[in-house]
Amino acid sequence: MPALVLLGAQWGDEGKGKATDLLGGSVDYVVRYQGGNNAGHTVVVGDQKYALHLLPSGILSPTCVPVIGNGVVVDPSVLLSELSGLNERGVDTSKLLISGNAHIITPYNVTVDKVTERFLGKRKIGTTGRGIGPTYADKINRVGIRVQDLYDESILTQKVEASLGAKNQMLTKLYNRRAIATEQVVEELLGYAEKLAPYVADTVLVLNQALEENKVVLFEGGQGTLLDIDHGTYPFVTSSNPTAGGACTGSGVGPTKISRVIGILKAYTTRVGAGPFPTELFDEDGAALRRIGGERGVTTGRDRRCGWFDAVIARYATRVNGLTDFFLTKLDVLTGWEQIPVCVAYEIDGKRVEELPYSQTDFHHAKPIYETLPGWSEDITKAKSFADLPKNAQNYVKALEEMSGAPISAIGVGPGRDETIEINSFL
Ligand code: GDP
Ligand code: IMO
Ligand code: MG
Repeated sequence: MPALVLLGAQWGDEGKGKATDLLGGSVDYVVRYQGGNNAGHTVVVGDQKYALHLLPSGILSPTCVPVIGNGVVVDPSVLLSELSGLNERGVDTSKLLISGNAHIITPYNVTVDKVTERFLGKRKIGTTGRGIGPTYADKINRVGIRVQDLYDESILTQKVEASLGAKNQMLTKLYNRRAIATEQVVEELLGYAEKLAPYVADTVLVLNQALEENKVVLFEGGQGTLLDIDHGTYPFVTSSNPTAGGACTGSGVGPTKISRVIGILKAYTTRVGAGPFPTELFDEDGAALRRIGGERGVTTGRDRRCGWFDAVIARYATRVNGLTDFFLTKLDVLTGWEQIPVCVAYEIDGKRVEELPYSQTDFHHAKPIYETLPGWSEDITKAKSFADLPKNAQNYVKALEEMSGAPISAIGVGPGRDETIEINSFL
């Protein structure tokens, strides 16, 4: 049985954690392949709610091996506190594997993230301030620190020194900050080495061997398609590839092994941080979506910007990820609206545009063209099959499916594991 990818089809927070957790009991490995603790994945199991940042949501399924792939950036202090928090709640985390090639978010990467955002002023990205961008920048600049470096003090010291040299110049001369001492950073990082040692592994080998043995591997994306460094709304993006290709580079599993790519799609749209968002609402409807949907960031606690469903974006996600399925989440949040507008195309400088414009300038001007679908008022949270949904909810789902270009194979009608309608099996 081959590999599946599960990723965000919009700007993140689509419900990836819940969807991963739902499949966690039926798969052998769940792998995070990019991003870091900028992610906030909420999983609700019974009356227990878990907020996961760095750990794959599969960690909550006892039979599943959670893996942090080489494409992830790891803040060791966050990882260790997330692990101990779960242990305190009785979750066994001993099966976790971490790639020795994953890059480490150092304290100076976090500092650089914060000062550069402040320096950008009103042009800031609105990052999570977790050091994500600077850590990926160090990786690409070939001055990054990897997990495996924690086990060679001499190499670690040389690498930290090389990386910090230029940053201290920048921090002191440009940003008027104090320099950071190499020894202090090395000491802190070495302090994590022993605690992380039991988890560090050659995850590329482990995952490929597992696939040879017909084990099921699920890749869990962080963020979302429109936050992708290549395919998102650059520069208002994160610094990695949440799109499907990222699952390969971020894990060392080849594309021929991937059989399904599932896009998690919210029944409306949200975004955190700065950047264009054509269907954003500034009125009572936007406030109601935020209130009813509980749209507040899991990582930073910021209110999420809310708007109607955007089919142009969904089609784009289908295209750049080669989506085979959608998992539509939070349909229950739309209960109660008499009419539900859905964006079917954009108007850009007086012209109707059906597909996402490649020009950033055009996208910033895009005005949504809406079609309005009739709503429903019945409670749908207990629905177990598509037939249980009111006719108008069925029609809303069918319309979204037609506009988005891939079958909707599951529908979320509440945050809990069992509040899901399965239409086509993912496995
Ligand atoms: P992620 O980052 O993609 O994992 O999503 P988040 O956890 O940041 O945000 C999704 C929120 O919606 C969480 O609070 C989930 O518990 C919740 N959620 C997921 N699916 C559904 C659903 O179908 N209905 C409702 N009402 N809530 C959902
Ligand atoms: P999950 O996995 C929503 C956003 C930030 C900011 C931009 C860059 O929970 O869906 P970064 O710290 O990554 O450099 O910030 O990306 N962002 C997210 N928005 N959900 C996330 O993760 C996000 N991770 C980053 O708000 O706009
Ligand atoms: Mg989230």
